[in-house]
Amino acid sequence: MLQVHEVSHRYGKRSWLERSGSRPPVLADVSLTIEQGVCLGLLGTSGAGKSTLGKIILGLERPSQGQVLFQGQDIYRADKKVLQRLRRDLQVVFQDCYSAVNPMMTAAQIIGEPLDNYERLSAKEQQRTIEKLLIQVGLTPQDASKLPQQFSGGQLQRVNIARAIALKPKLIVLDESISSLDMVHQTQILSLLAELRASYGLSYLFITHDIRAALTICDSIAVMDQGRLVYTGDATDSILESGQPAVRQLVSSILPDHPSGRIMFNG
Ligand SMILES: Nc1ncnc2c1ncn2[C@@H]1O[C@H](COP(=O)(O)OP(=O)(O)O)[C@@H](O)[C@H]1O
Ligand SMILES: [Mg+2]
Repeated sequence: MLQVHEVSHRYGKRSWLERSGSRPPVLADVSLTIEQGVCLGLLGTSGAGKSTLGKIILGLERPSQGQVLFQGQDIYRADKKVLQRLRRDLQVVFQDCYSAVNPMMTAAQIIGEPLDNYERLSAKEQQRTIEKLLIQVGLTPQDASKLPQQFSGGQLQRVNIARAIALKPKLIVLDESISSLDMVHQTQILSLLAELRASYGLSYLFITHDIRAALTICDSIAVMDQGRLVYTGDATDSILESGQPAVRQLVSSILPDHPSGRIMFNG
């Protein structure tokens, strides 16, 4: 359904101070595929290039090289009409739920935005659709009139998820979407995402630095390091035994704070 083919990327132009080739690419020759209904975890430490790849997949940043095929169409070569149709099937939920929304808009307006853009619903139908979406993400119809600051982070992220699923897309890019939530809300949103995926046959690109969250929800895992894909495999515990340095770094970040070894070492 989605194919990233040999994508490389550098931001901006080199200044005259930099010799040609001196700036390392943010992405180097990245290829990956996401099948329908599958959740792919994209992992890596900060700066690895995950968000850049997410933006490229969403059509927001044209790659320096390579192609992105969504439903068989090259999204950077498709004409406007095709692109508009593809956009509908491709949604995103970002990390910072508060900056992702207009603070002056109610939940109903936020969720209604994609419906306004793509579907011509009557006022009554629109209201009913929004109420259904609110319920689906674990909120209530009464939440429709609330403003962003009247929600907790976890609740507002549910509003963002409702907006993302409003048009029944095929693929949702989740860029650190649960990373700034506390553990309880992370767990709740993860199970909501799993439910939505089961009922809509959605695919996810689940971008995270948290290998534990990825193992909970993903079918397969891709790890990036300095712009390169360094590991791909099933989302099983076998990744924990990988000898790949970038993978080990992610794994060690979830080890308990005081592993017995360290306590012994400190005497
Ligand atoms: N708009 C931009 N302009 C220039 N450099 C950028 C831009 N966005 C990201 N970068 C750089 O690209 C690299 C990868 O960033 P990013 O894709 O955000 O990584 P990640 O999401 O894995 O933390 C970093 O070195 C970052 O500083
Ligand atoms: Mg990022």
